[in-house]
Amino acid sequence: MGIQIKTPEEIEKMRIAGRLAAEVLEMIGEHVKKGVTTEELDQICHDHIVHKQGGYPATLNYGGSVYPVTLDSDGKATQPVATDGGFPKSICTSVNDVVCHGIPNKKPLRNGDIFNLDVTVIKDGYHGDTSKMFVVGEPTPQAKKLIKTTQDSLYLAIDMVKPGVRLGDIGYAIQKYAEGKGYSIVKEYCGHGIGAKFHEEPQVTHYGRPGTGVELQEGMTFTIEPMVNFGKRHVKHNKKDGWTVLTKDRSLSAQWEHTLLVTSTGVEVLTRREEEPF
Ligand code: MF3
Ligand code: CO
Ligand code: CO
Repeated sequence: MGIQIKTPEEIEKMRIAGRLAAEVLEMIGEHVKKGVTTEELDQICHDHIVHKQGGYPATLNYGGSVYPVTLDSDGKATQPVATDGGFPKSICTSVNDVVCHGIPNKKPLRNGDIFNLDVTVIKDGYHGDTSKMFVVGEPTPQAKKLIKTTQDSLYLAIDMVKPGVRLGDIGYAIQKYAEGKGYSIVKEYCGHGIGAKFHEEPQVTHYGRPGTGVELQEGMTFTIEPMVNFGKRHVKHNKKDGWTVLTKDRSLSAQWEHTLLVTSTGVEVLTRREEEPF
């Protein structure tokens, strides 16, 4: 299929989906506190996306044979959810040493926990994919620094986006920055093209060699979503649930994600939140 250049009509739909995804992250903040469970946060996000936004949570049953699940007017799945290995929830919550694809569960969040909440909204057939780190109470200074460095690595990458820049340039910059602070970059998972499909070409690695890789063109839409580990870069899978990715050394991991549009002069952050500077 190759890398698609989005039409103006598609870009308008991507703007709407992106704004809705960002709005979920803005909405959920006040619900994050000690004692709440990630399953409760999932339910709130699910209801918000389905009932308030008239959208669909793209992770629900993702990877399963009944994807996408259709929902009735109450937001209940009209087909069974995740009976065959599809992702069972409407958001990913990746707590502490979970790198990505954490499944919301019944364990109450504790003071000092850090976690990534990753949400993808489908609206009018188009996807908006974004994630941010949340902290519960007071995290350690080390955790705060990891979170900040990871966000800074995303922001410096976003600053580079414009026609003619190559994905290897961007990956290299992210890697150099994070490794320069003594952290490591996860290599097994990357950003991705996005549009009518959740994951499209190209792959957007968070490491690379300058002057290599896909050259950006106006009208491309893709995510950047660096995963940065406090310790070593290696990851392991939870084989029981089939989804959760953890750091092999059990060190903390952080991630931030935005969906981006390449414009004629630079970049438009389709999932920008009100609190953000750009
Ligand atoms: N939102 C994730 C991403 O950034 C993908 C989650 S897929 C799931 O690409 F199945 F794990 F939910
Ligand atoms: Co993504
Ligand atoms: Co995501």
